[in-house]
Amino acid sequence: MLQRCLFPAAGYGTRFLPATKAMPKEMLPILTKPLIQYGVEEAMEAGCSVMAIITGRGKRAITDHFDISYELEHQIDGTSKESLLDSIREILNKCTFTYTRQNEMNGLGDAIYKGRVLVGEKYPYGVILADDLCINQDGDGVLTQMAKLYQKYKCCIVAIMEVPHEDVHKYGVIEGKELEDGVYMVSNMVEKPDNDKAPSNMAVIGRYILTPDIFPILKTVKAGKNGEIQITDALCKMAEKGMVIAYKFKGKRFDCGSIDGFVEATNYFYNLEKETNK
Ligand code: UTP
Repeated sequence: MLQRCLFPAAGYGTRFLPATKAMPKEMLPILTKPLIQYGVEEAMEAGCSVMAIITGRGKRAITDHFDISYELEHQIDGTSKESLLDSIREILNKCTFTYTRQNEMNGLGDAIYKGRVLVGEKYPYGVILADDLCINQDGDGVLTQMAKLYQKYKCCIVAIMEVPHEDVHKYGVIEGKELEDGVYMVSNMVEKPDNDKAPSNMAVIGRYILTPDIFPILKTVKAGKNGEIQITDALCKMAEKGMVIAYKFKGKRFDCGSIDGFVEATNYFYNLEKETNK
């Protein structure tokens, strides 16, 4: 049903400098797995087999990660360490990776627009921002929950969470009418509003299902907040036609694009692993 997932990964990751000077932020590990691998595993669980990655300069490590490393494989072949590569081998067996570059950092909307050559203009596709790490220990992953909802509503879906009012200026924020428990018909969306002007405290996180009719809108949308092409502005235009649903996802989300969120995620996954290995 959902076959393709787009991973915009062209950003500079300046909050992690100097670590991200020569290494992509998406390759920062939470325990032993890079952030982007968590995202790819979430997309696989949702049924995706085509992973479309928007890269930029200095992002070669992502391409190398999702490829065979003959020398390394040969070295650890038949040793106790071989199982450490199981998760990545499974991904390589099941998925195809495609790449294109965003030459200039013109914003998330522009990165997604660049992705149209990879995901095509016929089918809906997932979008995962790998620096938003999501986990749901009690059931379906976040993209799977959204894919199930897509079956019912057949329109764009954004994942949302309630954030403290003093933090809304960091997010895209929605206004909408609740249709069913945790599901909203979006009527308005604002990117990084002033705290006192935000329409709500329901913030969009880095999970979307988009329909291809967003592409012609993205093509014409003007640079918005911070001089960047904002996906929020394109989605707002779709929302005017009643074509956007917001979904309060089940599970936890860590903002691994920030130091605090990254440390929180590391501690959470470390404790989880300790519990599982008890
Ligand atoms: P962020 O603004 O969080 O990422 O973009 P950043 O710019 O890499 O981080 P900082 O603020 O400098 O530390 C959210 C997501 O959108 C992608 C980023 O790679 C990240 O996954 N993105 C953003 C692009 O691919 N292209 C862009 O032009 C902007």
